Amino acid sequence: MRKTYTWLAWTIAGCVFVQAASIAFGFGGMAGYVQGGGVVDKALVESGTASNFTGELGFPTHEIVGGMVVPLVALVLLAISFFVKVPGARKWAAILFGLVFLQIMAGYSIRDVPYVGALHGANALAVLLTAVHAARLVRRGDRATNESPTARVTV
Ligand code: HEM
Repeated sequence: MRKTYTWLAWTIAGCVFVQAASIAFGFGGMAGYVQGGGVVDKALVESGTASNFTGELGFPTHEIVGGMVVPLVALVLLAISFFVKVPGARKWAAILFGLVFLQIMAGYSIRDVPYVGALHGANALAVLLTAVHAARLVRRGDRATNESPTARVTV
């Protein structure tokens, strides 16, 4: 359980990298396409194809990882945190879940309220830091136990 908790938290941290990379890939490709005379309209966005410009795959990648993988992993992490006997494991899994929830709500609101994009981008860093903190909890807990005076073997 402790190992699973750690790996799930690292997975979320890794997903933040995928998210940043995929959206930059998508928008970078789109900007180049427009600069080259291409037109991005509603029909193209809703075409569901990924063959109009390089980087187009970044958008569905961002939506699948952000809208499905990350929330699912965060939920499983929260569920298993109840069985992990490490101080703070439940608290940090709950904080991470809350931040992921906010991140997804913000993600789906960007098109209606572009200002929310600022929150979405900044909150991604909070998700990353919290995930890394949660991932390191187990190791830190073990170290604290080993270093506690009661755990020391006296000769
Ligand atoms: C934990 C990390 C992240 C999660 C869970 C996440 C999730 C999402 C979701 C679910 C959407 C809506 C997808 C759609 O409407 O197609 C979205 C959109 C968006 N995200 Fe993220 N995201 C994350 C990180 C980031 C980062 C690091 C950036 C860039 C700095 C970013 C920029 C955007 C932008 C620009 C959109 C709007 C895309 C569009 O409307 O096509 N996201 N995100």
